[in-house]
Amino acid sequence: MKDLFEVLKPGGEDWALAKTLDPDRLPAHIAIIMDGNGRWAGRRNMPRAAGHRAGVEPVRIAVETCSRLGLEALTLYAFSAENWKRPRAEVDMLWRLLRLYLHRELPEIMRNDIRFTCMGRLDALPDPVRREIEIAIDATARNRGMRLNVAINYSGRAELVDAVNAIVEDARLEGRLRDLQIDEAAITSHLYTAGLPDPDLLIRTSGEMRVSNFLLWQIAYAELYVTGTLWPDFRRVDLLHAILDYQKRDRRFGGLNLETETARAEEWVEAVQTIAR
Ligand code: IPE
Ligand code: IPE
Ligand code: MG
Repeated sequence: MKDLFEVLKPGGEDWALAKTLDPDRLPAHIAIIMDGNGRWAGRRNMPRAAGHRAGVEPVRIAVETCSRLGLEALTLYAFSAENWKRPRAEVDMLWRLLRLYLHRELPEIMRNDIRFTCMGRLDALPDPVRREIEIAIDATARNRGMRLNVAINYSGRAELVDAVNAIVEDARLEGRLRDLQIDEAAITSHLYTAGLPDPDLLIRTSGEMRVSNFLLWQIAYAELYVTGTLWPDFRRVDLLHAILDYQKRDRRFGGLNLETETARAEEWVEAVQTIAR
């Protein structure tokens, strides 16, 4: 966390917020559905493309902040498998921006020791985009810092289908298809996110209360944080607010938090007797 304070101005709003964070209870993995670029542009009477362009700076800030906080992973939803339904010109613009971002930011990503990975069905992407992605993956493969994982042409359902097919294929190659049993561990280890912890915190901007086919398996117990802020307006203070909110949550995972749970054994005896009466 100390790396973060190197870039914060003492006395500033983000500095004050960062001071109140509990360094021992940071999320290991944050996932973000970056939404609202089109509406941001619409409110300014600008074309949607301008909203996407303005959405690049918050990506830079989120990556830098999470890396300097010392998080293990940041997963960003950049393009869903359903986003192909948009006009060709908009999709092309998104590819251009992705290439530009990767090209421009690679030196900074290297300086921060970040390992870049991608998830989704990448074979459907235009060749120049795939090449730029491969350059970034290769260049950062040995970095040991935060994992920056970007979801491109991603669908949570397709990911599950791909995982199950991969399990079946492995079993077929090893000649154990007949008595194949699929369990949770097998699915987890064949997802695109194999090796990453599940997201602790899922942030969605622009106020939409839905997950839009993102990380369906992995968010089983993620804490959800929806903000009305549109993605192009999302700054470091917004991210810190989300993490502070996360730190106030009582994560029970279906159990009880024994520190706050007051029920004692004799109360249970009494409760059972009341029912029996
Ligand atoms: C998010 O902004 C970016 C992508 C989905 C690629 P949108 O483009 O969805 O913006 P809105 O939801 O139309 O405002
Ligand atoms: C989800 O946003 C996908 C990304 C942020 C890349 P959308 O804007 O595509 O989601 P819907 O259509 O509102 O559900
Ligand atoms: Mg949207």
